[in-house]
Amino acid sequence: MTPTLNLMAPEVRANPYPLYAELRRRPVCQVEPGGMWAISRYDDVVAVLKDARRFSSEGLGRSFLPPWLDRNPTAGSLVMKDPPDHTRLRSMVNRAFSGAALVRLESSIRAIAEELAESLARRQEVDFVAEFALLLPARVLNLFFGLDPSMVPTLKRWADDLVSIPASQPSPQRMAEVRQSLVEMEQCFNALIDERRARPGEDLVSELLRVESLTHEELLSFLFGLLPAGVETTVYLLANTMFLLAEHPQEAARVRADPTLIPRLIEEVLRYEAPGQSSLRLTTEDVQLSGVTVPRGSLVVVLMGAAMRDESRFPQADRFSLDRESQSNLSFGHGPHFCLGAMLARMEARLGLEAIFSRIRDFSLVRRDISWSQSIIARGPLALPLRLEPKGR
Ligand code: HEM
Repeated sequence: MTPTLNLMAPEVRANPYPLYAELRRRPVCQVEPGGMWAISRYDDVVAVLKDARRFSSEGLGRSFLPPWLDRNPTAGSLVMKDPPDHTRLRSMVNRAFSGAALVRLESSIRAIAEELAESLARRQEVDFVAEFALLLPARVLNLFFGLDPSMVPTLKRWADDLVSIPASQPSPQRMAEVRQSLVEMEQCFNALIDERRARPGEDLVSELLRVESLTHEELLSFLFGLLPAGVETTVYLLANTMFLLAEHPQEAARVRADPTLIPRLIEEVLRYEAPGQSSLRLTTEDVQLSGVTVPRGSLVVVLMGAAMRDESRFPQADRFSLDRESQSNLSFGHGPHFCLGAMLARMEARLGLEAIFSRIRDFSLVRRDISWSQSIIARGPLALPLRLEPKGR
């Protein structure tokens, strides 16, 4: 293992793309932390994500259940299961994320986006992450849960605590906080399930309770899994979009002049600054990839963020451009675990950006030294101070 190939080095978290370029030159190799095998070329990433038999999602599950935790229902959630359990569970829950389900949600999501954009437009300087990007996905997720709106900040805190579990070596105090959050979440979701069993409504929990073959533990784990899956990634999609537009004023001007470019913008952000940078797998047998043998039982980090900068697939891959035609996006994964929330996330981003652009004439970064998330899995700014110029000022 070459010690310089460290995915968690501070300079790599600030800008992983030079290391990804290096990794694509030796596409299957071991990296820090922990000697994981990094997969970085487009074709290899697709091959791994498609192959649930030899690349088990238990790799992801293990990272959510480190030795310092006795129990974490997230580790049993859909994205961490393998076939045949995964296939059975996915077929039971996917209806809740179908196009028809989203059509029903669209007007509620638009109303939330407009309310948040309206309050942005009253300000001259904001932290876009805290004041918009975090609130939209957390409030949208709560449309699925149907909890009291006062619970939204708590949902956000729980989501943060869950995503901090993989690859972290927390202090004893932090461990206690995370354990406490897990207990609170379990109490909250158990109470929610009991309540909806007694008085079914139109929300996700009531809908899933109608699926009789879903056990209580499976439902609980599915709900736990939605917090890291549905909040942080979408927060970063919104924040990465605003960051990139601020850095690319010409592209920003094109989108302002023609908001029908927003879906194209979202696809390019998903490729160029992917909010979902990687996932983890565990090999179930020795596997040959790009001429290298990865031994059975190895932890594999599948770098979608690197694959989407692969020149063999995306000419001028390091250029942010609204003029790309075919995207072949891997931001939402590929194969059996392809993101169930992909359509929802795209819709949230589109409605959020439309609401912003109809109220804000222009914006710029207050400062360029941005602190990025410390996760190998999700990438985005922890805070994004923006100076805003509302329309009509
Ligand atoms: C920009 C936002 C999002 C990104 C980048 C993203 C990314 C991903 C990726 C990469 C996977 C596959 C992981 C793997 O193969 O190991 C995944 C799975 C999943 N995502 Fe998303 N996601 C986003 C938003 C959402 C939202 C909003 C929801 C729901 C509220 C959601 C729910 C799920 C679920 C349930 C799975 C598991 C699917 C399965 O294992 O069959 N995601 N997501």
